[in-house]
Amino acid sequence: MYQKPVTPTKRFCNKLKQIATLFVLMATAILLSHASGQAQQAALIKTPPALTGIHKTPSDKELPREKFIDALMAKMTLEEKLGQLNLPSAGDFTTGEAKNSDIAASIRQGKVGGLFNIKSEKKIRAIQEIAVKQSRLRIPLIFGMDVIHGYETIFPIPLGLSTSWDMELIRQSAKAAAKEASADGICWTFSPMVDISRDPRWGRVSEGNGEDPYLGSQIAKAMVEGYQGDLSSNENILACVKHFALYGAVEAGRDYNTVDMSHLQMFNDYFPPYKAAVDAGVGSVMASFNLVDGIPASGNKWLLTDVLRKRWGFKGFVVSDYTGIPEMMAHGMGDYQDVSALSLNAGLDMDMVGEGFLKTLAASLKEGKVAEEQINAACRRILEAKYDLGLFKDPFKYCDAVRAETQVFTKANKDFARKVAAASMVLLKNENKTLPLKKNTRIALIGPLADAANQMTGTWSVAANNTGVLSLLQAMKLAVTDSSQILYAPGSNLTTDSMLQKNATLFGKTLPRYQKLPEVLRTEAVKTAQRADVIVAALGESAEFSGEASSRTDIGLPDVQKDLLQALVATGKPVILVLFNGRPLTLSWEAKHVTSILDTWFGGTMAAPAITDILFGVVNPSAKLTMTFPQNVGQIPLYYNHMNTGRPLPKGEWFQKFRSNYLDVSNLPVYPFGYGLSYTDFSYGKMRLSDSTLQGNAKLEVTVPVTNNGDRDGQEIVQLYIRDMIGSVSRPVQQLKGFKKIMIPKGQTVDVHFTVGVDDLKFYNSQLDYNWEAGDFEIMAGPNSQDVQIQKVHWDK
Ligand code: BGC
Repeated sequence: MYQKPVTPTKRFCNKLKQIATLFVLMATAILLSHASGQAQQAALIKTPPALTGIHKTPSDKELPREKFIDALMAKMTLEEKLGQLNLPSAGDFTTGEAKNSDIAASIRQGKVGGLFNIKSEKKIRAIQEIAVKQSRLRIPLIFGMDVIHGYETIFPIPLGLSTSWDMELIRQSAKAAAKEASADGICWTFSPMVDISRDPRWGRVSEGNGEDPYLGSQIAKAMVEGYQGDLSSNENILACVKHFALYGAVEAGRDYNTVDMSHLQMFNDYFPPYKAAVDAGVGSVMASFNLVDGIPASGNKWLLTDVLRKRWGFKGFVVSDYTGIPEMMAHGMGDYQDVSALSLNAGLDMDMVGEGFLKTLAASLKEGKVAEEQINAACRRILEAKYDLGLFKDPFKYCDAVRAETQVFTKANKDFARKVAAASMVLLKNENKTLPLKKNTRIALIGPLADAANQMTGTWSVAANNTGVLSLLQAMKLAVTDSSQILYAPGSNLTTDSMLQKNATLFGKTLPRYQKLPEVLRTEAVKTAQRADVIVAALGESAEFSGEASSRTDIGLPDVQKDLLQALVATGKPVILVLFNGRPLTLSWEAKHVTSILDTWFGGTMAAPAITDILFGVVNPSAKLTMTFPQNVGQIPLYYNHMNTGRPLPKGEWFQKFRSNYLDVSNLPVYPFGYGLSYTDFSYGKMRLSDSTLQGNAKLEVTVPVTNNGDRDGQEIVQLYIRDMIGSVSRPVQQLKGFKKIMIPKGQTVDVHFTVGVDDLKFYNSQLDYNWEAGDFEIMAGPNSQDVQIQKVHWDK
């Protein structure tokens, strides 16, 4: 029976039990691989049952998918079918309580369909051996993992990746992650996470792609293509788009909180990235924890069947999130048996950790609460995925010791990760062209994140290999000719808030605690800074300030760091703020007072060398924000594609009585969506449109001349927005509809082209029909969502 979350002591005991289980499995694996004869093996494991199963003849394995699965399912008992729907956690790393302490026994009994949270080809092989040699029907397991932004070689956190606006780079990063994970036994990743969010308090914005449905959809597609490619290759793995749906809209940014949203907003703003993943052929979908229309997603038939399968034509399988099914008891949806039946009937196929399917569906079937067809349909979908992955042909397709040895954490992947990390860093300010730094400058590197190598890989990098990962201090010393040019002082602890410090430690990536008083650390830092020409302040959040269960109500720099920064600015030296952060931060003071700001997110394995590439000008920054940076938490939700009000504030004003605004701050963000600078300067010429009146399926050609006025080549992300001026439902003031990331050589002008068609004008109306409506439209182009030039067109049916 499902139990409520456990106390830390119990969690520790459970962990010990899991470790003991894994130890037994590992020992079995090692012994098995070393045992020389049948006799030794038989002593260790139960003798496999006679070969009555599907692997009897090779020709069976060649059957087309439907026939193969029909034949297999005809042999399966109800218990074995329910076993396929069961996904326990092996417990190598976990986000909750692992329930099954004797996984090996359950596998032998045919009670497990897949396993996750297990790392290494050896362990996976050992467990797959149990499934295909010791269970009655020898059905292989599927092995999943949260391969979110890389496997052992870690790329920037997804929010950072998204700021590259480079779909090919993102696709290649997913492909590289798939290649590494698949070399180590994994065939299924719980990624991409595509939850749109407008609330930076929510810690999981670090795992997503920001606030925009158009960009989010492009990224969802690129990620699915990167992971899955052609599944016949053992270098590709099954993707799982998550968390379906609306998880990014949790109230007050508090994780696992409730969501309440109109269908119009769902369809127009929050659903598109999930749908894009489905259109790109994603093999699986993870249901979210939150309510959708008052019913938790895991038990929501409208969502999982009517929208996902009937409307969008999804053909893969749906897995719950971690204990998502039994958590519906707390939502008030009934007891363990009720919620499990509710979930199956809604269209959910695989139960992650909850074990409600395994333990209660037989009773529900007897009592007529679920139908056998529904169990069969779920079982079939899991088997189809295994078939598509080629596991019936070769259960060890992803277990190749040579690949595990040679294709993981390679130099090529690390070099690529360095390029991706640099492409994701956003230059937010650069007064007096202080950056790039000259190599012979004397630099004071100050801050609690300056020498913190273990923070670089950020959140959700459970399989990260930390060997050789450098801190910024180490990387900077390597980057200059004489390492004595780099002076260093920590300056402060990350925070003096003991609760924040204590709570943000899920995966143990703690920072050293300096025992000195804040004033003492600060004074030492100021003295160090005074000996330098320029100050680089490495400040921000630790890796565990964002990610799952890491919401914050104050998203500014912790006070002790702000005090440090103010003291550094007071020295009168130029201060370059190098930010580490898993979310947009409130940076009003910083944006006014420091000289330069480089937002580096958590850049992954090669974050530190990539930061130095930017600081010293080896790479010219080109990234732009994908989520608005508000002035303060009170403005949230603040996002560029909002609706108009009946009393909008005139552009350029910041307060008028009886208008939609605040008494104390303007409506503007500190940095808007789409914003980011380069070391060179771009200017935009007048946008040209092919027509001002169009009809039907005509195409509007938009041309934007962009000039590189600076003294070095640079990449610019040119953005195209539209506004539908009049509609049967109110339309946003601005919507991204295109972007181009292009390299413009110094001194040159490039004409950037966009084609707008009626598909770009479509939206869901109040009947949830997807269509466009004739009328006036504004076409906008610019370097970010705020600085756009506008022209009008009229489009008739
Ligand atoms: C998270 C998912 C993750 C799962 C498995 C859950 O707590 O919400 O995103 O895939 O754990 O680790």
